[in-house]
Amino acid sequence: MAALVGAGSRGTADYARLIRKGRSLVAHGGETLAGLLVAEPFSRELHIWELAVAAEHRSRGVGSGLVRAAQIDGRNMGTRALTLTTDRHDGAAFYTRLGFEEVTALDAHPRLAGELANEVDDGLPADRRCAMICFLD
Ligand SMILES: CC(C)(COP(=O)(O)OP(=O)(O)OC[C@H]1O[C@@H](n2cnc3c(N)ncnc32)[C@H](O)[C@@H]1OP(=O)(O)O)[C@@H](O)C(=O)NCCC(=O)NCCS
Repeated sequence: MAALVGAGSRGTADYARLIRKGRSLVAHGGETLAGLLVAEPFSRELHIWELAVAAEHRSRGVGSGLVRAAQIDGRNMGTRALTLTTDRHDGAAFYTRLGFEEVTALDAHPRLAGELANEVDDGLPADRRCAMICFLD
C-alpha cells in the first residue's frame, strides 16, 4: 500500500485504520494491488480520502471503476453522497465525469470547509484546492 499511495498522503497507518472501518475498496491486478480507494463515513456521507492506481494499471478504467463501485456501495447502504477534496487542475475533471460537482456553498458544509482549511495548513495551495460532492439519492 505504501508504494501505491506515495509521499504526501496521510500515511499508511492512518489508512490502515480507515480501511478497518470497512468502507474502502481495492482493485487487484493479478497478484498485485492495482488500485485503492480509501473512504470514511461521516453520518450519511462517505468521504474519499485517497484514490490511487498503480502506474502500470492506469488508463484502463481501474480508477473510474473504484469510484463507481463506491457509488453503488453507497446507494446500497443508504449513503446520501460521496465527498472529497482535490486539485482544481489535476483531478477535478476526472471526478466531474463521474458525477461530482464542486461544493461552492462551503458555509453549508462545515466538514468540507474544515478539511480544505486543514490542507492549506499542511501547505497545499488554497487557490488550487476544491471540495466536490456526488449525490447518490
Ligand atoms: C487519477 C487516477 C486515480 C485515475 O485512475 P485510472 O485508473 O488511470 O483512471 P481511468 O482509467 O478510470 O480513467 C482514465 C482517464 O482519467 C482521466 N484522468 C486521469 N488522471 C487525471 C487527472 N489527474 N486529472 C484529470 N483527469 C485525469 C484521463 O482522461 C484518463 O483518460 P486517458 O487515459 O485516456 O488519458 C490515477 O491516474 C492515479 O492514481 N494518479 C496518481 C494520483 C493523481 O493523479 N491524483 C490526482 C487525481 S485524483
